[in-house]
This record gives sequence, structure tokens and C-alpha cells, in this order.
Amino acid sequence: MSKQRLEGKVAIITGAASGIGEAAARLFVENGAFVLIADIQDELGQEVVASIGLQKSCYRHCDVRDEKQVQETVDYALEKYGHLDIMFSNAGIIGPLGGILDLDMGEFDNTIDINMRGAVIAIKHAGRAMLARQVRGSIICNASVTGCVAGAGPHAYTISKHALVGLVRTASCEFGKHGIRVNCISPFALATPMAESANIDKTELEAMCCAVSNLKGIVLRPRHLADAALFLASDESSFVSGHNLTVDGGFTVVNPSLGFYQ
Ligand SMILES: NC(=O)c1ccc[n+]([C@@H]2O[C@H](COP(=O)([O-])OP(=O)(O)OC[C@H]3O[C@@H](n4cnc5c(N)ncnc54)[C@H](O)[C@@H]3O)[C@@H](O)[C@H]2O)c1
Repeated sequence: MSKQRLEGKVAIITGAASGIGEAAARLFVENGAFVLIADIQDELGQEVVASIGLQKSCYRHCDVRDEKQVQETVDYALEKYGHLDIMFSNAGIIGPLGGILDLDMGEFDNTIDINMRGAVIAIKHAGRAMLARQVRGSIICNASVTGCVAGAGPHAYTISKHALVGLVRTASCEFGKHGIRVNCISPFALATPMAESANIDKTELEAMCCAVSNLKGIVLRPRHLADAALFLASDESSFVSGHNLTVDGGFTVVNPSLGFYQ
């Protein structure tokens, strides 16, 4: 049998109780990894672990806003599996939907705390664990097309995702000399529980995305993002660092307003 793409690797995935993180957890395990699912939805996270199997996965309550919880989660992974190769910092929320004129600053702070500050904390503690054991690890953040262009999401969310792209670049700059890679994936919109939390109907969202998508004939699903994360986690991307891998069917590079090739 040929070697699996993540054989023997240990991964932490934040926000893996549902959506993209859950799909990545399943795919990483299928590819030979041990996965620690870190989330705040304990029941859902435990259900995911039960369906994947306790030999290859475990669940840990971890609110990425709380540095102590993230540090303890990394320590738990080290204790259980001996090392850490992959941190997929994926937890995120859509945050407040209104305009800047009506922006609730408490909700703004919470969005930045989860989407951006949480990723800084994840990188900090994963980086420490990798360095201490001289692991040439892979750190992946889940950004968004809203980190590349404006007008594709609400303000706080857009700001947090722009910051993530900068975070990935500056962290890759520091970690390169240690052989640790830092990258992000940037999905176009897809139907996950996050969309439901913004009261967007799944069918309507998919229809809208298909209508405005540059690449036709495909509906974006969590599995497509899991595939992108798998590539960045695996040795197939061993010379890729500081990169923002858009998974958007060309949305962020095509401006259709002049109507060429329409
Ligand atoms: N769905 C989309 O359209 C889309 C597009 C671009 C980027 N993304 C990004 O993908 C990532 C995953 O989102 P998803 O679409 O799978 O949504 P999701 O709601 O299914 O998953 C997000 C997970 O993050 C967890 N989470 C929320 N706050 C947390 C916290 N404080 N600590 C730990 N975990 C927390 C949630 O419990 C949930 O399980 C997010 O970062 C999101 O911004 C999603």
C-alpha cells in the first residue's frame, strides 16, 4: 500500500465540530493523521470524534479567545500523541452584519477576538510546540475571499480576514528559518452552519454563489476546502509558505463589470 499523505502526523483543528473543520478532520484522518478536534460545541465535537473513531481522533473544549485554553489544548495533544505537526486554525464566526454607522463595538471586538486574535494565539502555541521538538510543521489558517476584496462580506468579518492574510505572511517570515510553514486558504462562500447563523438559507446561498461564480458547474462544499488544507498540511506543499490559497473559482481575480468573455 502506498504511503498516506499525512501518515503518523498529529493535527489540531480549531472549530472542527462542524463545517469545513469537520470535513478537514475526517479527510486528515483518512490520510493517516491523528486529529484533535478543538471547539466550543462540546456535544457536536464529541459526536464527530465518535463517528471518526477514538483511535485516531479526540475532542477538547477550547475557546480560541482564551490563551490558556489554547495552550492547554496544545499541551494535551503533545501528551497524548507526543508531537504536533499541523495546526489548522479554522474557528471563525460571521460577526455583526450591519454597516459601520451602526456597528456594535462589543460584537466587533468579539469577531476580531475569534477570527484574528484566536489565530495569533493558535500560531504562537503551535509554533512553540513545533520549535521545542524541532518539527518542520505546517500551520494553516482559514481566511476568506473577504480577506482579498471588499464587498463580499460584513465589515468586521472582512477586517478580520484581511488581518489573517497579513498574519500568515508575517508569521511565515519568522518561522521560515525553523522549517515551519504558515499558509492560509481563502474560501468563496459555501453553505455551512456559519451561513445559517446569519439566517441565510442554504439553497438560496448556493444559488446565489453559483450565479456570481466565475467558474461554473460546481457547487463549493466543505470537502473542497478540506482538500486544499490537506495539500498545505502535507509534504506535497513542502516549499509553499506565506501563501494565500484562494479556493474561489477565480472570484478574486476576475472583475466581470466590463463584460469581457461573459
Ligand atoms: N462558510 C463560508 O462561506 C466561509 C467562507 C470563507 C471562509 N470561511 C471560514 O471557514 C472557517 C470555518 O467556518 P465554517 O463555514 O465551517 O462554519 P461553521 O460554523 O460550520 O464552523 C465554525 C466552527 O468554529 C467554532 N467556533 C466558533 N467560535 C469559536 C471559539 N471561540 N473557539 C473555538 N471554536 C469556535 C464553531 O463552534 C464551529 O464549529 C471560518 O473561519 C470561516 O470564517 C467560511
